[in-house]
Amino acid sequence: MTFVRNSADLSPIKDEVFGVAIAAKQDKEQNRDIVTDATIGSLYDEEGNFVALNSVFDHYDEIDHRTKGAYAASFTGNPAFRDSVYNWISSGTELKLAHSVIATPGGSGAVYMTMVSVLEQGETLIVPDIAWSSYELMAQQNNMKSIRYSMFEGDHFNLASLKNVLHEVLQAQGKALVVVNDPCHNPTGYSLTPEEWNALVDILNEASELGPVVLLNDIAYIDYSYDLANVRKYLNAFNRFNDQVLSVLAFSCSKALTSYGLRCGAAVILAQETSAVRETEIVFEKVARGTWSNIPNAAMANFTWVTTEHEDAFLAEKQGYIDLLKQRSDIFLAEAKEVNLPLYPYKEGFFITVAVPPSLIEAVHQELIHRHIYTVIVNQGIRVAVCSLPVQKAYGLAGKIKETIDAVSVREGR
Ligand SMILES: Cc1ncc(COP(=O)(O)O)c(C=O)c1O
Repeated sequence: MTFVRNSADLSPIKDEVFGVAIAAKQDKEQNRDIVTDATIGSLYDEEGNFVALNSVFDHYDEIDHRTKGAYAASFTGNPAFRDSVYNWISSGTELKLAHSVIATPGGSGAVYMTMVSVLEQGETLIVPDIAWSSYELMAQQNNMKSIRYSMFEGDHFNLASLKNVLHEVLQAQGKALVVVNDPCHNPTGYSLTPEEWNALVDILNEASELGPVVLLNDIAYIDYSYDLANVRKYLNAFNRFNDQVLSVLAFSCSKALTSYGLRCGAAVILAQETSAVRETEIVFEKVARGTWSNIPNAAMANFTWVTTEHEDAFLAEKQGYIDLLKQRSDIFLAEAKEVNLPLYPYKEGFFITVAVPPSLIEAVHQELIHRHIYTVIVNQGIRVAVCSLPVQKAYGLAGKIKETIDAVSVREGR
């Protein structure tokens, strides 16, 4: 007998992070000096503490209890929050599209909301072949299928693969929802060039002759770019969308404000036609009301305050951690180059992924653990979380990983 719905998938979630993170923690209790823990996907400081920005939380602590306790003003989010998210995302751009912002529980909420609003059950979602695992989990949970495009062709984004998959899906179902996690892709740290974004917009426009195309641009890590002054400029290319293309930006306060637990984010709808944005907004509002109801009031109020009145202090404090990320990743990248460790093309962000032949991934990961190095298995590689890796532990790591891969290849005869 089963009490859950018959169609439910009863296999437990295979969490690639928690198990190995716990093992690393236990190992550190005995062998702190020799353990390298590159598993944790949140921002950690050099002392191994979770980073909660003072410029965010000092003010949060002062928010009136009644603001914290009250419902939000609307299922779509508080008006000031919706405005401030749009201003935050579009600042420094010349975005001219019709738009609307719906508050969501983190970027996850925005991704989920877009998926269930755009696709029917049984339809297919388009995702990158190296990706945050929740996209496919959400698709499965909602009785949707997924198909992968190859992210890379050498050191570049594989536009041809995305185009082929997009055409295949449009021919099959007359509509497409395609996920592009950019800038600072999780888990490779790739960011498309302005030229690649322009070419991608051309591909979406051209493909839309076969049916409506929705681009789900997951911008969870945008605020940790190494080029904050220019990172949003690619959005100008969206002004060239034709009226058969719509985009939703999935924005996350978890990363931007180091407030993962406050469950706040937003879906930013962008399209040429106001009517298309309004229609999408109506459906999104019903998803919100029928799923999580509303978003923590104080989290929204705090975002507005931090990104307006307190912006300079916030940017300055955050920049310190971006510089730290860069310092850590520079060390790892330089050493990886010296020892010829194959990496996916990293540019910026929380994670670097080492390319490992699929048949060796499990064995390499295990052997690294044996050598007190803890990483996370991702599709086609192992992920090194520079967001939590102290500078001293970054030194020498690339060489050790290279040695391990070589040793495992010899042992396995490959
Ligand atoms: C690529 C990507 N998108 C979205 C999210 C969503 O995070 P949250 O729901 O906490 O905003 C994450 C979190 O890890 C992520 O890695």
